[in-house]
Amino acid sequence: MEKLTEKDKELIRGSWESLGKNKVPHGVIMFSRLFELDPALLNLFRYKSNCGTPQDCLSSPEFLDHVTKVMLVIDAAVSHLDDLHTLEEFLLNLGRKHQAVGVHTQSFAVVGESLLYMLQCSLAQGYTAALRQAWLNMYTIVEAAMSRGYTKNGEHKTD
Ligand code: HEM
Repeated sequence: MEKLTEKDKELIRGSWESLGKNKVPHGVIMFSRLFELDPALLNLFRYKSNCGTPQDCLSSPEFLDHVTKVMLVIDAAVSHLDDLHTLEEFLLNLGRKHQAVGVHTQSFAVVGESLLYMLQCSLAQGYTAALRQAWLNMYTIVEAAMSRGYTKNGEHKTD
């Protein structure tokens, strides 16, 4: 796994903390952006909630449950900036689960873009070029590990 600089870590930790304890509203901003960028992703959530429109989806408890899960994964990454490799196995598995529910690896990049959008909205003046790059560096590590979990034919990896 790539390494983050000490400056990256400081910027990520400080900004994540400044978003406050409840990260779900920030996650909702992130997913609203995701559906703007790629409305087809909405279909992947329809099987469990009646998401006719992005708004229906974003206010459904099942969907908010996924938003919470995503924010918890980001929170775990922020808490393990010094030893991100310890999350490798978890992220590989998470990638595999997303392959199973029909998410393409390319969509993870759109999530990254949405994450940066949310940070820009939520941090306003605090959103600097260095901070953007720090988050991009961290998200790229998470995204790469999730994508590594994808297997050629969707079969379970034995190694
Ligand atoms: C294109 C973006 C994504 C789509 C369409 C998507 C969709 C889904 C779906 C359909 C599920 C299964 C149902 C559920 O638990 O709600 C799921 C589970 C999950 N997703 Fe995502 N997801 C996306 C991105 C992400 C990202 C970027 C993360 C974390 C950084 C994430 C974290 C999780 C977690 C933790 C679970 C639960 C896995 C488990 O059951 O063990 N998702 N996702």
